Amino acid sequence: MQPGSAHGPARPAFGGVRFGDRLARGILVAPSILSADFARLADDARASLAAGGDLLHVDVMDGHFVPNLSMGPAVCGSLHRAMPDACLDVHLMVTDPAAYIEPFAKAGAAHVTFHIEVVPDPLPLVDRIHALGMSAGLAINPDTPAEAIVPFLDRIELALVMSVHPGFSGQKFIAQVLPKTRALRDAGPAGLRVQMDGGVAPDSAPSCRAHGCDVIVAASAIYGRPDYATAIAALRAG
Ligand code: DX5
Ligand code: ZN
Repeated sequence: MQPGSAHGPARPAFGGVRFGDRLARGILVAPSILSADFARLADDARASLAAGGDLLHVDVMDGHFVPNLSMGPAVCGSLHRAMPDACLDVHLMVTDPAAYIEPFAKAGAAHVTFHIEVVPDPLPLVDRIHALGMSAGLAINPDTPAEAIVPFLDRIELALVMSVHPGFSGQKFIAQVLPKTRALRDAGPAGLRVQMDGGVAPDSAPSCRAHGCDVIVAASAIYGRPDYATAIAALRAG
């Protein structure tokens, strides 16, 4: 949507407030800190941004929507205090995302994505995210059709296509989701960011980009590699 349109006041493009001129970059790479070393999280996060990562993807799991627990607003807040300029891209894999919008806004998140599977009427939550100064995203699991979020694409900044069943890093990329990525790119407005999340590695990144994805999330393909800069460059352009 355009700034100041009928849907509400102007708001930043994806991560715009804290992301500055990096928005000019076509393909963004989002290191997912789920595979960082939690004992030295700030060091790993800083190193991945210094190596060319554009934003930090923060995977939030509640042990209910997905069979794992990860991190919450306190971790986000610590990262924000340690790296106030980093764009914190929060991916809520939780059954009740409405309960966590304000805590993550207070914790310095720039962007929040939640899943359509748990909020079939997402616009009130999208509006709350925007009212708190963040950009908003909608995510679909591998078994959810693209059509589930198509009606809302002109009200959000980012569409997230899960290319693994959410819950864990290090899983195998599900290539069958690629047509959904293309469908969302074609159906969405210019400027919509389309994010791929799960199992993306240098061998799968080119097909993600070819299908219209312009934000690549990667955990193990970055933090599991000895040289973050080489890994990030390979995801962006390899
Ligand atoms: C999975 C998470 C992903 C995950 C990606 O549930 O949403 O962001 O961290 O990990 P890799 O890149 O290792 O598949
Ligand atoms: Zn994620």
